[in-house]
Amino acid sequence: MFRKKEAKKAAVRQRDGNMSRVPAHIAIIMDGNGRWATSRGLPRTVGHREGAKKFREIASYCQEIGIKYLTVYAFSTENWKRPKEEVDAIMQLFHDYLIEARQELRTRNIHIQVLGDLSVFDGEFRQLIDEVQSMNPGPDALVANLAINYGGRAELVMAANAAFAEKQGPITESDLEAHLYTAGQPDPELIIRTSGEFRLSGFLLWQCSYSEFYFSDLLWPDFTTDELDRALEAFAGRDRRFGAVK
Ligand code: FPP
Repeated sequence: MFRKKEAKKAAVRQRDGNMSRVPAHIAIIMDGNGRWATSRGLPRTVGHREGAKKFREIASYCQEIGIKYLTVYAFSTENWKRPKEEVDAIMQLFHDYLIEARQELRTRNIHIQVLGDLSVFDGEFRQLIDEVQSMNPGPDALVANLAINYGGRAELVMAANAAFAEKQGPITESDLEAHLYTAGQPDPELIIRTSGEFRLSGFLLWQCSYSEFYFSDLLWPDFTTDELDRALEAFAGRDRRFGAVK
């Protein structure tokens, strides 16, 4: 197992020529859990359970290949419109993951950050999030950002209000950035969306300014480390000019 993982890691490095082509930060819109389940005659909640397992697998792969930040869109401010049973099931998956994280993340070397408006959650859940976020697994830990009750427009309004309140006057881009949920982190260089959909759905609206995009036809529970390699390969081949000429 270890040898296979090491070989894969080496292959990615070799293919990219150098590690600088592996992005520091990737973000994923994990779409298609519902369709994955429905196509098998299963309840949608089973799709989310498989999606949560897939997240764990992909997070450890990101860690292996040297990605420093992984942001996943797990629950948007619009997802409350779903049936209560489905919302509850997704929240339970987070809860379970956070409990597991509290026990094991130090050894797994992952640092969890939750991005989103957490004021809607009860005290016990917020306390759990606080505890997990304040764990300090080590300087080389993978930062896993879980976007929960997240909306990009809401984030911008929140950050603008906070920056304005602090400065009491006109704000700059860096004032605003300092109040985003991702403050202090590099912007995602690569954003992946699964399930053949081509939308951002309000994900990281500020941070995506110069992101590259990769759209995968695979439904999230079917996503694989090989498909992530393909996304990284596509990224490595992109000519990123950031508005300049070369
Ligand atoms: C989108 O697929 C997926 C979601 C709205 C929920 C994603 C949540 C998880 C994967 C669980 C998160 C847990 C952890 C620990 C990160 P969809 O339901 O919109 O799929 P569909 O478009 O096929 O209906």
